[in-house]
Amino acid sequence: MIDLEVADVTKAYGETPVLRGVDLAIESGEFVAVLGPSGSGKTTLLRVIAGFERADGGSIRVHGEVVDDATAFVPAERRHVGYVPQEGSLFPHLSVAENVGFGLSRRDRRGPRVADLLALVGLADLGRRYPHELSGGQQQRVALARGLAIDPRLVLLDEPFSSLDVGLRAALRADVRRVIREAGATAVLVTHDQDEALSLADRVAVIRDGRIAQCDTPERLYAHPATPDLARQFGEVNLLAGTARGARVTTALGDLETAVPAAPGPVEVLVRPEQLVVGGSAGRTRAVVLDTEFYGHDAVVRLHPESGDTPCLLARVANPSSLPARGERVEVSVQGPVVTWPAGVEEGPPQARPA
Ligand SMILES: Nc1ncnc2c1ncn2[C@@H]1O[C@H](COP(=O)(O)OP(=O)(O)O)[C@@H](O)[C@H]1O
Ligand SMILES: [Mg+2]
Repeated sequence: MIDLEVADVTKAYGETPVLRGVDLAIESGEFVAVLGPSGSGKTTLLRVIAGFERADGGSIRVHGEVVDDATAFVPAERRHVGYVPQEGSLFPHLSVAENVGFGLSRRDRRGPRVADLLALVGLADLGRRYPHELSGGQQQRVALARGLAIDPRLVLLDEPFSSLDVGLRAALRADVRRVIREAGATAVLVTHDQDEALSLADRVAVIRDGRIAQCDTPERLYAHPATPDLARQFGEVNLLAGTARGARVTTALGDLETAVPAAPGPVEVLVRPEQLVVGGSAGRTRAVVLDTEFYGHDAVVRLHPESGDTPCLLARVANPSSLPARGERVEVSVQGPVVTWPAGVEEGPPQARPA
């Protein structure tokens, strides 16, 4: 079951487009992080989903119901979506318990709900305090409890950890995940912090130029990045030119297996550093060792191929027992299938061809 479906949503402030056609579909119970730098439109996207702003174009469905499109607009309070805004959102003149119960009916405010929520976020004894009497982390827990008060199936979190220091952040992160799970909610968390997105989310949606460039599990973002740019964002890369022929691609490092069959023609090829094998006799390419870095559990070897115009190569060697010396000539080969993209994929979408 799809809990949230955002289709081709656009939003501009004046002349400045912020969202240029966002597509995002989230399954019930999923925890999805939307990752993008500051100013990339993350808060705007959450506000449009919550119903605090109306999209200029496209459509949004929450639990199957259209809440925003060209003809329909369901106001925020009737979307039944929990919202945890960016820092500093508590009402300073209300106690912790009053903050948590703010969106509830008078009857629910008197019932056990508020105490249950405070216990859920680990603040059972602090209901009578005021926001200024809490640490930053405790304030964010209160904001989370308030976002969950209406028992929403969908919760939106806007950089809930950005004001906290690193140690506290890690602890609260794990807690938020647990609380959302226990509440049985679907969650969308926006962040500019890549480690946070990768460690927390079932899937990560990467915003680029007002669109979702890729939405995938952390493992797939690393193993199957949609563009060279995304490959560089999620790890170290060797990018080579190649010529694809379906299941194989010819490169300066030999004839390699493609992870996904590629249309014949010029391609860009991704070889992750751990795919490069240094030494042995199976190598097809000779290279000179520029330098090595030993890290115990692994080592990094920088290489300069002797022939062709292949740029310097980066190899990662697991459990290194003996490393080649600087200046040594070695053979290198590639293990495992490689990701390819049509050459020029980063220069934007293909132009329409004249008929
Ligand atoms: N209410 C607004 N009026 C005009 N411009 C806005 C408004 N809200 C956000 N913006 C602009 O839209 C862009 C995206 O903002 P925002 O969604 O807050 O990004 P993020 O949350 O990723 O940092 C920024 O350039 C910001 O200055
Ligand atoms: Mg923001």
